[in-house]
Amino acid sequence: MMPLLTTKGLSRNFGGLRAVDGVDFALMPGEIRAVIGPNGAGKTTFVSLVSGRIQPSSGMIVFDGADITGLPAYIRVRQGIAYTFQITSVFANLSAYDNVALPVQRTLSDGRSKGAVRTGVMAALERTGLADRAHMPAGQLSYGHQRLLEVAMGLALKPRLLILDEPTQGLADSEIDNFITLVREIAKNATVLLIEHNMPVVMQLADRITVFNAGKILAEDTPEAIRENAAVQEAYLGTAP
Ligand SMILES: Nc1ncnc2c1ncn2[C@@H]1O[C@H](COP(=O)(O)OP(=O)(O)O)[C@@H](O)[C@H]1O
Ligand SMILES: [Mg+2]
Repeated sequence: MMPLLTTKGLSRNFGGLRAVDGVDFALMPGEIRAVIGPNGAGKTTFVSLVSGRIQPSSGMIVFDGADITGLPAYIRVRQGIAYTFQITSVFANLSAYDNVALPVQRTLSDGRSKGAVRTGVMAALERTGLADRAHMPAGQLSYGHQRLLEVAMGLALKPRLLILDEPTQGLADSEIDNFITLVREIAKNATVLLIEHNMPVVMQLADRITVFNAGKILAEDTPEAIRENAAVQEAYLGTAP
């Protein structure tokens, strides 16, 4: 099987800082991959490079066998890469429905067909448990529900690769259980790259875990092996076992 996504020597400098430093990475189709690591490790920068939100200083990104390194973000979205931002990016004054309608329209060749838009929007809202809040202004949703709305916006793009950057931040424990179910659902027909701080969520969802530290991949393994990894414990928890 060919990887869905590969990076080779991927690097990004900010001034003198190498935020992402020579990362070789591969993601197989259908897997749920968690990316963990301390604050400032380069996780968000890495997925921003993959989504095309920022450009690399050097290195290469291959998606589905094609070099996408030079492609703008909107073309990558069309090719199936969806990215939900770490910082809430919903339009507060628009309803939940209208927020999701924006990405749905982008997937339709005739984005003005009302019936098709409605079907796509309600499917994404139902999957994220927000259907009964469709007409609420997004700014009046709880923070946790705004994060789920972002996931709905990502899902509405029908992505092949869905990148979620700290999606459970601000979710209540009861909402986290639903979120785990949701990601498993999504992974039935998409590949998921999940940056996540909540270790129980990571351990329950991930097929494999990639650990970032200081812009580099420190370790990559199964959840069980990562849990036992002394270098990971030192970098991530600040304590040797
Ligand atoms: N736009 C930027 N300009 C300057 N420095 C940045 C920028 N984005 C990120 N950084 C720096 O790059 C490093 C990695 O950041 P980031 O990718 O956000 O880490 P993480 O998501 O793992 O917490 C940090 O030191 C951060 O301050
Ligand atoms: Mg981050």
